[in-house]
Amino acid sequence: MKWSRDSWRSKPIVQVPEYPDAAALAAVEKQLRVYPPLVFAGEARRLKTSLAKVADGKAFLLQGGDCAESFAEFHPDNIRDTFRVLLQMAVVLTFGGALPIVKVGRLAGQFAKPRSAPDETIDGVTLPSYRGDNINGMEFTKEARVPDPQRMVQSYNQSAATLNLLRAFAQGGYADLHKVHQWTLGAMADTPAGATYKKFADRIQETLEFMEACGLTGETVPQIRETEFYTSHEALLLPYEEALTRVDSTSGQWYACSAHMLWLGERTRQIDHAHIEFLRGVQNPLGVKIGPTTTPEQIIALCDALNPQNEAGRLGFISRMGAERVAEHLPTLIRTIEREGRKVVWVCDPMHANTVKSSTGYKTRQFDRILAEVKAFFAVHRAEGTHPGGVHFELTGKDVTECVGGTTAAVTDAALGDRYHTHCDPRLNASQALDLAFLIAESLKDERAHLQKPRIAAAQ
Ligand code: PEP
Ligand code: CO
Repeated sequence: MKWSRDSWRSKPIVQVPEYPDAAALAAVEKQLRVYPPLVFAGEARRLKTSLAKVADGKAFLLQGGDCAESFAEFHPDNIRDTFRVLLQMAVVLTFGGALPIVKVGRLAGQFAKPRSAPDETIDGVTLPSYRGDNINGMEFTKEARVPDPQRMVQSYNQSAATLNLLRAFAQGGYADLHKVHQWTLGAMADTPAGATYKKFADRIQETLEFMEACGLTGETVPQIRETEFYTSHEALLLPYEEALTRVDSTSGQWYACSAHMLWLGERTRQIDHAHIEFLRGVQNPLGVKIGPTTTPEQIIALCDALNPQNEAGRLGFISRMGAERVAEHLPTLIRTIEREGRKVVWVCDPMHANTVKSSTGYKTRQFDRILAEVKAFFAVHRAEGTHPGGVHFELTGKDVTECVGGTTAAVTDAALGDRYHTHCDPRLNASQALDLAFLIAESLKDERAHLQKPRIAAAQ
């Protein structure tokens, strides 16, 4: 039962690369063990406190970013655009839900990918699957597909630089609410989504002017001029995670210092396996993806293993059931958690069980199916009397054509080839992401009206 940062090594494990050169791997691990932590434990604790508010129905989580970050797309503009679209979505959601929005990027460390098959065959040639840029290369060559531990060092460096820019954006003035108009994305400014956003930004501007007249300015209220922005990724590549796991000098506890929040994928959440063993010992807030086959016994076992103190904000379940299956599977899981009095954050990932192949052969997702899963998630929580705590998206601030549909500037099946740039799964583009934020804001507003009804009735 005793945990140490390498106790996962004695457990069964899946989805791990086989490094051909054990000595090279050990050398990289040794090197990373003395590199500075990317995040500070105090920040992870702060996020946990914010997520505790989500668990308690008093805040909402917005988590999003690339399916897989890549070395090739490492560019300040890409980081800025993803940060900016998340910021725009967050303001829209804050306004609609009248709730604080906890902002967490799939950024600054989201490199490793679980795969459904270990190999890939193209034109009769079979090679190991691509597992993310921190493991091997995406090019379909024998050399590129060999796991290379040096890639972990490059991922660390890219994460550090990304995080540095994100911190500057969040605290250095870019996120000032007075800039709400300037956040309109270059490519998006002239689109219908841009126009809807502009009208919305006018209202925020007016509100800020009113507040200023009352003496509430960026100088007196720091929340107006800066924001809290956190990072997260799937804790899949355990040699990397272990090397960045440190004892926090202020609390004496272990923290994974590669990101503020870590999650476990649907494929690596086996209760007696290595990934659970590793995560149970670090104090960061955690997420676990849960697909349609998840049983009530499994989620209680996950709570027991990962959150034995039943601490609010420690554990989130990121449900990814598929639009049609939410109503069938989620209620039983929610009832189990409620019956057992467990504190969890419920999050909806409407991406991963709604992936299809387009008629033109692209791996894609339909905007309508994504929206349908979010709506179904809200409906189930309304029926159960629980809080739909947040959403988890694969998105980018760029004008890519990877998902089909959208309410304002729809991407057609035929257009998928135009700007299909993802290194793994199809992402929402900026305009689709903003469309969704407006629609989810409506659901949050409904939720608020619904919760206020009994109070108004009681007061009368
Ligand atoms: C992902 O988030 O990119 C992912 C692989 O998700 P899941 O584990 O839910 O399939
Ligand atoms: Co994905």
